[in-house]
Amino acid sequence: MVCRETEGFMSLAICPGSFDPITRGHIDIIRRAALLFDRVIVVMMINPSKDPAFSAEERMDFIRRTTAGIPNIEVDYYVGLLADYAAKCKATAIVKGLRVMSDFEYEFQMALMNRSLNPGTETIFLPASIDYMFLSSSAVREVGRYGGDIAPLVPDEILDEVKQRLCVKKGL
Ligand code: PNS
Repeated sequence: MVCRETEGFMSLAICPGSFDPITRGHIDIIRRAALLFDRVIVVMMINPSKDPAFSAEERMDFIRRTTAGIPNIEVDYYVGLLADYAAKCKATAIVKGLRVMSDFEYEFQMALMNRSLNPGTETIFLPASIDYMFLSSSAVREVGRYGGDIAPLVPDEILDEVKQRLCVKKGL
């Protein structure tokens, strides 16, 4: 039997997303993945047919700054299929957070598609922490655009920039 330890195996997880912008919920999943795997790559997937609120450069900068304190985290971006990226870096697992049951159908389909494209990488779901069950990047954008309090939703390091970029004039 081949023992992964004796082969010098290092487990590698990837945490993919659009991160438009990164939220406290993402950070929670990334931190927990970092406890489970030797290395974690947070990969921002670029979809050229989407029009994100934050540029790719801004989103990468936000990810880098908010994950800087986690030792086994690397940050990357990719244009293309997640399954191809996972195969390219020989990832052990794709880690996704699951918030509510409505996430499940979409995420389950994606997991099956990714597995059929790349059987070498498993998808693992981590249940969202209770504080972040309702949290999404789109909720951050919506609340922020109308001047609502996004401090509980967005990491401290990027809060002011996210607020400034999203906030529209009150009364509009
Ligand atoms: O943060 P999001 O928007 O929920 O992340 C979704 C993401 C980027 C992980 C997903 O859309 C994705 O993996 N996109 C890359 C293209 C791909 O591989 N699609 C799956 C095959 S249909």
